[in-house]
Amino acid sequence: MEKTFIMVKPDGVQRGLIGEIVARFEKKGFQLVGAKLMTVSRELAEEHYAEHKERPFFGELVDFITSGPVFAMVWQGNNVIATARQMMGKTNPADALPGTIRGDYGVNVAMNIVHGSDSPTSAEREIALWFNEAEVNEYEKTINRWI
Ligand code: TYD
Ligand code: MG
Repeated sequence: MEKTFIMVKPDGVQRGLIGEIVARFEKKGFQLVGAKLMTVSRELAEEHYAEHKERPFFGELVDFITSGPVFAMVWQGNNVIATARQMMGKTNPADALPGTIRGDYGVNVAMNIVHGSDSPTSAEREIALWFNEAEVNEYEKTINRWI
């Protein structure tokens, strides 16, 4: 079953949106298999966003992600990687449609509330970076036969 890495960023935690974001993925029918509230080291933030290290916003992005706790999660389900990206909406909340997380709650591209892996390769890399094996819980959810 496909898995993806989703993170409520420091602005989403500060604004009290953890429950709202978890609820959206739960109601969609995805399965939460890992979750933790954590303060991110500079090293982890730089590794997570390594693909952007030459971009002008990289320093501010790392400052932001390390500025307060984040809620890191692993979600599982059919096509969860692409579907979660659709549920998040476009990177810039100004372009994100109403009904998406960023479209409903975001204002600023730098503080866009949520991260989600953008491909199977990214998902595998990010899950391994943020979670150890014992923190990813394999368990049967019998309601899956209805989805
Ligand atoms: P990116 O991977 O392009 O977006 P996404 O989060 O949708 O995968 O960029 C990573 C983060 O970098 C993005 O969520 C917010 C930040 N960012 C900026 O601050 N300014 C920018 O111009 C861009 C493109 C991203
Ligand atoms: Mg990205």
